[in-house]
Amino acid sequence: MTAVSARPKAFAAGRSTYSAVAIALHWLIAILILTNIGLAWYFDDLKGPAKVAPLALHKSIGITVLLLSLIRIGWRLANPPPPLPAHMRPWERWIAKATHLVFYVLMLGLPLSGWAMVSASPLIKTHPTVLYGVVPWPALPFPGVDGDQLHAARKLFSLTHETLAKVAYAAIVLHVVGALKHIVIDRDDVVARMIPLLGRGRGARP
Ligand code: HEM
Repeated sequence: MTAVSARPKAFAAGRSTYSAVAIALHWLIAILILTNIGLAWYFDDLKGPAKVAPLALHKSIGITVLLLSLIRIGWRLANPPPPLPAHMRPWERWIAKATHLVFYVLMLGLPLSGWAMVSASPLIKTHPTVLYGVVPWPALPFPGVDGDQLHAARKLFSLTHETLAKVAYAAIVLHVVGALKHIVIDRDDVVARMIPLLGRGRGARP
């Protein structure tokens, strides 16, 4: 299905909620990202062999997020999301759209910077990435890059990973505050579009 043909179909069907696939991918990726942040906080204080297993799991979950995010982007292009409710003010729409865009950058940027960081590390020879201890995952190649340059590159990727993690903390807070505003103040159906259990139509405004 193409983006061109999907949009009229979604509207013709009167869709005002996300598809089951979009909802499943949203919550799966959200849980994996939160788990990875928790793991990073946990292994931050660890040293030596104690750090190996949690870091290996962190790498596996991160690559899983990368693959699921690519699927999610493809799905979103083929299945446009339902429009935001008409009562939302322009600045609210702007913040909602900007936060969503930042999330897509994070969903790709965090795993890619982590992957690049470990690929540029000398430790990759002794600790290659093996997804969930089963599937070998390649290191990114750096052809023609000498030792010093590789060291500098690793530092840059590491700084990028840390900075994106900080952006993620801010984006997650903004996202949750926005969702709570829709439930408590606006009393509309926006959050129920992503949490079917909440039930639609209970808010004052659809
Ligand atoms: C959903 C994706 C990911 C999230 C949310 C995430 C999050 C984080 C966070 C919050 C930190 C701590 C940063 C700090 O020091 O402030 C971290 C560190 C790290 N991450 Fe990730 N990460 C992800 C993906 C990956 C991937 C795919 C890899 C590698 C394949 C990776 C490798 C690492 C490494 C090596 C560290 C530093 C470990 C150390 O302390 O030496 N991450 N990550």
